[in-house]
Amino acid sequence: MTPTPSRNSSPTAIKSHIDKPVVLVGLMGVGKSTIGRRLANRLGLPFVDSDDEIEAAAGMKVGELFENYGEDYFRDGERRVIARLIDGSLKVIATGGGAFVNPETRALILREATAVWLDADIDVLAERVSRRDTRPLVRDSDPKRVLTELAARRNRYYSQAPIHVHSGEGAHEDTVDRILEALAK
Ligand code: S3P
Repeated sequence: MTPTPSRNSSPTAIKSHIDKPVVLVGLMGVGKSTIGRRLANRLGLPFVDSDDEIEAAAGMKVGELFENYGEDYFRDGERRVIARLIDGSLKVIATGGGAFVNPETRALILREATAVWLDADIDVLAERVSRRDTRPLVRDSDPKRVLTELAARRNRYYSQAPIHVHSGEGAHEDTVDRILEALAK
């Protein structure tokens, strides 16, 4: 039987369960970056955030990319950046909420990585995204309405991830524990 990695397991022991990059998908505000960074830390793996990589490549914030060039341009950059990040090396990747909706990106992630759908109640997501104004899709709208619409459109894609973990209002480390348990199975 495979031992379940606990908070006290050595990174090396936990890492031996992982044979592909781990990619976090799900709606904005669910905590993909925060949870991803902690997960990577526990696994002793590098962490990358696809939005940060897009911003570094473009020399511009996501909001500015949307504003100056439009969403399609951003989506194209997102697709290319994620294809570059999935290079066979082990790491944890947090993706932007729309990345997994792209058929090419989704197929790549499902084939070459282990996708984890991080999910939370809409009220929790809406509260979290309201704290910052960096997300163009909710900037001038009611976050709860936008997130409800996005969930209705996107959950069918997110649900294709082989691992589904709910990230409630509890401690981030509890969510990380549940991801590690699922990865060890
Ligand atoms: C988006 C989510 C954002 C960012 C962009 C678009 C989306 O990332 O990529 O604002 O379409 O859901 P987070 O999910 O990290 O907020």
